[in-house]
Amino acid sequence: MSPADETPAHEFVWVPKAAAIAREAGARLREFYAQGVETEYKGDVDLVTVADRAMEKLIRARLGEAFPDHGIFGEEGTRERLEAEFRWYVDPLDGTTNFAHGFPQFAVSMGLEQRPAGIAPDADGTLVAGVIYDPMRDELFTAERGRGALLNGRRMQVSRARELAEALLATGFPSRKRHASPNIHFYQEFTLRSHGVRRAGSAALDLAYVACGRLDAYWEFNLNTWDTAAGILLVEEAGGRVTDFAGNKYRLASDEILASNGAVHDELIGLFADMFAGRGLTPIPTPQELAERRKSRG
Ligand code: IPD
Ligand code: CA
Ligand code: CA
Repeated sequence: MSPADETPAHEFVWVPKAAAIAREAGARLREFYAQGVETEYKGDVDLVTVADRAMEKLIRARLGEAFPDHGIFGEEGTRERLEAEFRWYVDPLDGTTNFAHGFPQFAVSMGLEQRPAGIAPDADGTLVAGVIYDPMRDELFTAERGRGALLNGRRMQVSRARELAEALLATGFPSRKRHASPNIHFYQEFTLRSHGVRRAGSAALDLAYVACGRLDAYWEFNLNTWDTAAGILLVEEAGGRVTDFAGNKYRLASDEILASNGAVHDELIGLFADMFAGRGLTPIPTPQELAERRKSRG
């Protein structure tokens, strides 16, 4: 690695303090994980634990000390100073289902948006900083707009895959209204056309993995801003692209996210267009058809 590959920590404005907060929360998550926690249900299969709530409380307090003028919008209900110029989107524990089952794939995610004075409440500002911390691997992903993206202090870049046929992808499925999600169809088509699709259960880490080149692309329906704010900036600053499924500029409240290394993006958009139009889909045998085939094999 040449010195040019490193962004000195002092060039980051917000990341150093936010990263210290994410590391502190991550260390606490490791302790909760080791001792095991009770699970509650927010919905059908929408889990929450004492760790989610305790870490949001901790992050809220620490952000308030570090950036007293900034707003905070957290998954577990924090809504503070939303009129402020800067707003943190906080997911204190992304990957709760994994965490609750002892599956070591989860993260703390904190993304910072700058909102100019007078902006409409539902309009997007600009994402200016992002921090995602994986406490189980001690991996810290950071970025600031215009200043690059780092993994544990070293410059990271998206992958070089040029086409879907040589790409490793990821997706996720919603925990709310999952019966209404069409994603299984997309999962099947993309699986057939790529090296495979991972479903590891943390949207924040999926985006961080696109940013550092472990994944070539990632898509999901119906995420929330706290899931995506930090990861979007990581991907963009690492040289990738983030849009909706039609290639439009990604909006923070969007129901669709497609993040990639840039090179495979248009091919994916084309496939989404074909699929939404019902063109060229590979039929999936129904369980009844399979049963018939098994019977006829004897
Ligand atoms: C979930 C994870 C998962 C994604 C779900 C999210 P949570 O976040 O990011 O990967 O598929 O849609 O809700 O609830 O664990 O913070
Ligand atoms: Ca989440
Ligand atoms: Ca969460």
